[in-house]
Amino acid sequence: MVAHVATVAFLGLEARGVEVQVQIASGLPAFVIVGLPDKAVAESRERVRAALAAIGLSLPPKRITVNLSPADLPKEGSHYDLPIALGLLGAMGAVDAETLAEYVVVGELGLDGRLTPSPGVLLAAIHASSRELGLICPAAQGPEAAWAGDVEVVAAPDLIALLNHLRGSFMLSPPAPGEAEPAAISADLIQVKGQETAKRALEIAAAGGHNLLMTGPPRAGKSLLAACLPGILPELSPSEALGIM
Ligand SMILES: Nc1ncnc2c1ncn2[C@@H]1O[C@H](COP(=O)(O)OP(=O)(O)OP(=O)(O)O)[C@@H](O)[C@H]1O
Ligand SMILES: [Mg+2]
Repeated sequence: MVAHVATVAFLGLEARGVEVQVQIASGLPAFVIVGLPDKAVAESRERVRAALAAIGLSLPPKRITVNLSPADLPKEGSHYDLPIALGLLGAMGAVDAETLAEYVVVGELGLDGRLTPSPGVLLAAIHASSRELGLICPAAQGPEAAWAGDVEVVAAPDLIALLNHLRGSFMLSPPAPGEAEPAAISADLIQVKGQETAKRALEIAAAGGHNLLMTGPPRAGKSLLAACLPGILPELSPSEALGIM
């Protein structure tokens, strides 16, 4: 049987959908990955084998073929470990194929079965949201993925916890969007002496999202007033923050 798991390939700031297909067929025992994998993806074999061994599962002594489709798109990075492992578990019947079909999966595996972060989780989450799928990612990156908004994020610390979640025996709680470090505010309206009309205009522009044109003689305080604006702007919503990323 062939198991399918959705994941992504990163092309600059874009995430392209990639399907991991795993087939376990009779034949001489082998484990091959095809579909233009780079070195990190090819090495994923060893991490997947070790991580499955760590949770007490050994690969069946059969011919295992993993295809990363579309096969002509180069695949780079270590985030294919987890989709390959889940595809194998799906093909072995350890994970329900219908459950797997509801998620986009990214994550690197440690030899002990832990899920370790790999770059690009936010892009993967946005991709999952556009396809109306959930996202499975390492626990450490749950807060980042949750920024994508209306996407079900399953952030698991290790393979065992993830399998328990997918089987419904022990549910993981969904992560909350992480807090970004507030940027240092360079100037504060308190520093501005007088200029009551200009300050009021600044507040109205900030609250209403209006444009602002300042005119005045040199050294009148235009740059100072402009520098005060970020401090009084309302907080960005997650979607606004993503828009100006
Ligand atoms: N109302 C004010 N309260 C406190 N400091 C002020 C005020 N107006 C100007 N300053 C100070 O005067 C200096 C010149 O101000 P600023 O650089 O903002 O002027 P500007 O209008 O941008 O000038 P320019 O047209 O030459 O760019 C700054 O150090 C600023 O802090
Ligand atoms: Mg100026």
